[in-house]
Amino acid sequence: MEEKGKENSIAAMAACYQKFDPAAYLQYNYTPPRADFTRKDSIVPWKLACLHRAFTEGDVSGELLVDIGSGPTFYQVMSGCEVFNKLILTDFLEINRQELRRWLQDEGGCSLDWTPYLEHVCKLEGRRSSAWPEKATRLRQVVSDILPVDVHCSQPVAPDSLPSTGADCLVSCFCLESVSPDLPAFTRALGHIGKLLRPGGHLMLIGALGESYYFGGPGVRIPVVPLNEAQVCESLRETGYTLIRLEVYTLPQDMRVGVDDVTGVFFAKFCGLGSCG
Ligand SMILES: C[S@@+](CC[C@H](N)C(=O)[O-])C[C@H]1O[C@@H](n2cnc3c(N)ncnc32)[C@H](O)[C@@H]1O
Repeated sequence: MEEKGKENSIAAMAACYQKFDPAAYLQYNYTPPRADFTRKDSIVPWKLACLHRAFTEGDVSGELLVDIGSGPTFYQVMSGCEVFNKLILTDFLEINRQELRRWLQDEGGCSLDWTPYLEHVCKLEGRRSSAWPEKATRLRQVVSDILPVDVHCSQPVAPDSLPSTGADCLVSCFCLESVSPDLPAFTRALGHIGKLLRPGGHLMLIGALGESYYFGGPGVRIPVVPLNEAQVCESLRETGYTLIRLEVYTLPQDMRVGVDDVTGVFFAKFCGLGSCG
């Protein structure tokens, strides 16, 4: 009976996602004011700075980086693509995987121009912003696959699509809390993705704080598990991850643009089971 209830609430979340609109989602979250590169307090530059630091402080290495629930976005792998030679993107929806393929194949028709993002990350790396085409080429070169994923399955990606040793590093941004019906499902999903990580690998998690819904398109209201920092840390501890660093961003009033009720964002860097390295 309890099992049936869990399945129903997960199925209800999946049903919400059938109306997800990648172009609208990108417009809501990845254009100014949320992606204003002239402002240090804009949300996207904050996320990019956290990712840049996490990938360049020397403790993260290996061959394979996997991004869980990529959606239609690339910002989350623009630093990691310089450290890893192989990158796998994943999403639940074919419409998002298509959006990713469009940019990777460089054939036009993308819903967002990622150039200002590439320029910004080049600057974080100490390069000139004009080096952005090299970063775009690097990113296109290292992506080896775009896979379907379901974090509610104990095996979130198809068997044999990842090496049996697991990924060296996982990234996941705004996915688990916005696809889970409640906190226990969020914690279980963390456990499921953890199985994709090699012992001692790293997990970079970015997520919403205090959010109860967001719009995935016009009129597409998607429920979110409202989290606080303590709950994030406790869920990760329960699942066996060791916290390396947690950073929190509070949304300035003018970033609250009516597309969700998020109040803050967390960035967390963790080490998986086994000793880090
Ligand atoms: C809020 S978006 C996050 C997208 C992107 N990572 C970002 O940072 O903007 C949530 C993503 O989770 C995906 N998703 C929905 N259900 C999922 C599931 N059961 N397992 C994994 N991902 C799922 C959606 O398709 C969507 O792309």
